[in-house]
Amino acid sequence: MCGIVGYIGYRETQPILIEGLKKLEYRGYDSAGIAVHTGQKLEVTKSVGRLANLENRLTGEPLCGTVGIGHTRWATHGKPSDANSHPHTDNSLKFSVVHNGIIENYLELKEELVQEGHRFLSETDTEVISHLVAVEYEGDIVKAVQKAVRKMRGAFALGVLTEHEPDRLVAVRYASPLIIGVGEGEKFIASDIPAILEYTRDIYILEDGEMAVLTRDRVDLFTIEGNPIAKDVFHVNWDLMTAEKGGYDHFMLKEIHEQPKAYRDTMRGRISEDGRSVVLPEIKLTPEQLRGINRVHIVACGTAMHAGMVGKTVIESLARLPVETDVASEYRYRSPIITPETLVIVVSQSGETADTLAALREAKRCGAHVLAITNVVGSSVAREADDVIITLAGPEIAVASTKAYTSQLIAFYLLGLYMAQTLGTQEEARIAHILAAMDSLPDQVEKILAQSDTVKGIAEAISKHSNLFFIGRGIDYAVALEGSLKLKEISYIHSEAYAAGELKHGTLALIEEGVPVIALLTQEDLYEKTLSNIKEVKARGADVFGIANEGHEAEAAKSVDTLFSIPRTLPLLTPALSVVPLQLLSYYASLALGHDVDKPRNLAKSVTVE
Ligand code: F6R
Repeated sequence: MCGIVGYIGYRETQPILIEGLKKLEYRGYDSAGIAVHTGQKLEVTKSVGRLANLENRLTGEPLCGTVGIGHTRWATHGKPSDANSHPHTDNSLKFSVVHNGIIENYLELKEELVQEGHRFLSETDTEVISHLVAVEYEGDIVKAVQKAVRKMRGAFALGVLTEHEPDRLVAVRYASPLIIGVGEGEKFIASDIPAILEYTRDIYILEDGEMAVLTRDRVDLFTIEGNPIAKDVFHVNWDLMTAEKGGYDHFMLKEIHEQPKAYRDTMRGRISEDGRSVVLPEIKLTPEQLRGINRVHIVACGTAMHAGMVGKTVIESLARLPVETDVASEYRYRSPIITPETLVIVVSQSGETADTLAALREAKRCGAHVLAITNVVGSSVAREADDVIITLAGPEIAVASTKAYTSQLIAFYLLGLYMAQTLGTQEEARIAHILAAMDSLPDQVEKILAQSDTVKGIAEAISKHSNLFFIGRGIDYAVALEGSLKLKEISYIHSEAYAAGELKHGTLALIEEGVPVIALLTQEDLYEKTLSNIKEVKARGADVFGIANEGHEAEAAKSVDTLFSIPRTLPLLTPALSVVPLQLLSYYASLALGHDVDKPRNLAKSVTVE
């Protein structure tokens, strides 16, 4: 996730920008840059890689001035490179922009600008903004930014500087975070509080559609339309560590709460404006090639594999193609039947998992078309796959994957629908119906998060046990596996996930008085059957925590000891909701047991060995 820092004041800006960017390193980045107004002109230095690379470049040639903007980039459009790093400038080099977010219509805007004679030096969406501001400039940077922003669709937090106005810095927020720091004779902009905490604890938190005009002595706040607004200063009394976690106690909790945004970001620009179809220009597989595919393999590890299991149901039910799922560490060694008519989908948050990468290479060696779903642009998996769908979850720092997993689910829904519309396996109306339901998912997750305290109580009770079970049928079984893995990895409590109907073939012997069983009951057509399985464990003394759809409360409550309801959605989409209480359950169980939630023992975030 990109990081923005900006400064206008009386001190040298370069060290403030660099130190501020260092404080945003936890957000993840692959390149960095700064632009400084020297008093005469704008000077820009940027570099791919760590901030140390940028600092090395600046050592010989520091940028001197008291106004500037800085940026750490997390690649979304175009690979990590010097040219794609921010700040971006227009062709006259008089306007400089840093941006966090995605401009959905940047290709159209870029085409128009190219026709008017503008030259572009990067593959980014951001460069379009600096050109747009330059085009709109008629002596007032604020008006130019307002006009430019009106042409843009998407999500953006912006910092804008112009050579023409050395005493003003403009900031805009629309669906990407941005705050303004207020100091004596100096003002700041930043993506997050840690970047400026050393200088001030008084901040304005911009809301979507708001902008700020900063001079050394004042901050004027407006709506993007130009109407002045008043806001209270927020006084921060967090320490630096708390600030990095956005006020949450752990990165995992922060990332669980970031899921509504991750859903929106992963869907953004991938659904047609009328909401009736999926747009995936990143897929190079032609409709003819797709029609030639006769089987799909989904290959991944751990949590990504669990997303793949949901993906199997999604693709089979929407695109009507047979799908096999494989754990990546097993794939190569079972001599899978891979032909040029096989579509191999590899799923990896990091894009660097050794087993997944090896499976990808094996699939390519056999002539299959490989499509990757990954969260990291420029990762090995992203570079080597034929097609890539980037999940826009932003960097995930906690070892336990949460928002990356749910964004992978969103990617599978989009892909399944895209395949269905290309192959003509679903009516247009059904596709539109599913897309409309997907649109509601972020708000529905918010509703679940608002009930965190209920889950906390259950987690505290569960933390006293050393064995428990997760059960579910169909797509609920895939979610049960993920719930069980999450609990094991951060609470160290042993649990097993079972297809609910399979219990009586052996595992039921382990159910005795007081054993907790977490039962997922979200699939309408399997509801009665799962209820019967719940009765089987209840009869042997199990303590059942049920997760069911709203509307089933009265009935389900009779069969379980505690019930958690999730908002209603389509059966295929329930994993994107039902996994959230399970993530919270493992988080609070780990917390109750006093474990290191973000860094569980024996585990690493990226597994680059076989
Ligand atoms: C569990 C978890 C792991 C990863 C697995 C694959 O919370 O994060 O199970 O899902 O190691 O990692 P990626 O997705 O980076 O390939």
